Amino acid sequence: MSLSPRSSAGIIDVTAFSSRRRNYMLQSHRKDGLIEWMKSILYHSFVLDASSTYFETMSYFEDLIEEHRVKKSLSRLQQYVPSVGIFHTSLPLREAFQMYDAKYRVTCRRYVSPSFNEIRHTLNLAQVMAIGPTMSMISFDGDQTLYTDGANFGKDEELSSGIIALLLSGVRVCVVTAAGYGLDGPKYESRLRGLLDSFVERNLTNEIVNNFYVCGGECNYLLKCCMQAAAHEDGKNPASSFTAVLIPVLYEEWQAESLGGPRPAYWTPEQINQVLDIAEESMKQTLGDLKLRAKLLRKERAVGIYPGGEEMVKAVPIGHGSKKLKREALDELVLRVVDALRIADPPIEIPYCVFNGGGDAWVDIGSKSVGVEALQAYFGLLPSQCLHVGDQFLQTGNDFSARETCPCIWITSPKETAKILQHILRFKYA
Ligand code: IMP
Ligand code: MG
Repeated sequence: MSLSPRSSAGIIDVTAFSSRRRNYMLQSHRKDGLIEWMKSILYHSFVLDASSTYFETMSYFEDLIEEHRVKKSLSRLQQYVPSVGIFHTSLPLREAFQMYDAKYRVTCRRYVSPSFNEIRHTLNLAQVMAIGPTMSMISFDGDQTLYTDGANFGKDEELSSGIIALLLSGVRVCVVTAAGYGLDGPKYESRLRGLLDSFVERNLTNEIVNNFYVCGGECNYLLKCCMQAAAHEDGKNPASSFTAVLIPVLYEEWQAESLGGPRPAYWTPEQINQVLDIAEESMKQTLGDLKLRAKLLRKERAVGIYPGGEEMVKAVPIGHGSKKLKREALDELVLRVVDALRIADPPIEIPYCVFNGGGDAWVDIGSKSVGVEALQAYFGLLPSQCLHVGDQFLQTGNDFSARETCPCIWITSPKETAKILQHILRFKYA
């Protein structure tokens, strides 16, 4: 293979790439196969100046999805979109699009065709319509879904009110986050302070807040919310003042064999260290190759890299990433780790998740798919009764795997999460 795939004339010689490199370029990890395909089909109507047929096209998508739910890998949709996943419910896309169009008048546009985000919103709306009345558990990703990346849940009336309304209607609410602080309740509490305080301000009972859980490190640590009498400085505990705290749930309880769910606490140190050793080695190699001014952190069940600050400027005089790591560099690191783990010998036996967190990159033991499945088993729920809301549904994201275990909503900011909650509440009582 020649070192430079670009000829002196500046034309790319594709035969100079390995097939794997070509696949990465063609089958981009930054694309969602289903939405891109739907967009291209709708574009046909747009160029024919037949936007009124968008509704028919939505009905056609609905039919294809129904067929895929039955025929799976033998469906037509599987042929059109090889990367298509599982649909845990039917999706009333025509009705959802009618609702979206009534507000945003997509069909009235002459120069701009339906966009990726508009299709994403339509899919979200259809999913909410389908699950609304039967939803018994909702899980939220943390970063960028409940609070912006790296920040904490502050005072957010809209989001807090939506979550409280769900708790009051008996829905179990879980934060399923990659952030892993073991079973250290106060660490998770400080990230969710604004929400926990709103439980107290709204006088929620212990019984109600007991339905709020945090699953940290993707699937590894479970904590449950309780109202605790707040201690005053003089050491007295007045009955009238409470604080909402997160206390560990024993893994023997939520991963009991009798529940039939996944049991990450029982994965062996050898299985765990095999993944983390390979990932750490690959990360170190990439940090050197790309001259990244990043620091590496290895935890009990995770290894990750993050911007290294001033200290790393001195350590890597010519390089980048001390304050912010480039998306391209994070993606490259993630894809290299994915490849290293794929070819591990002996093969890896346990689930893991490699992802670009926006400002950092991580390999976690287990995944959100495992976390959600374990919660479903613990609460005795079917996938079609659960919903996961997250921001990372590209292949290099960590919400992607949750699609295997339950219907999902793809948002891009906490503001969008609050809006989705309004729709959920509306359809729950429709
Ligand atoms: P999520 O979006 O709520 O799943 O959180 C992902 C973010 O959590 C990552 O981008 C990191 O900034 C942060 N984080 C903290 N600890 C860990 C860990 O142990 N594994 C992965 N991410 C972590
Ligand atoms: Mg996130």
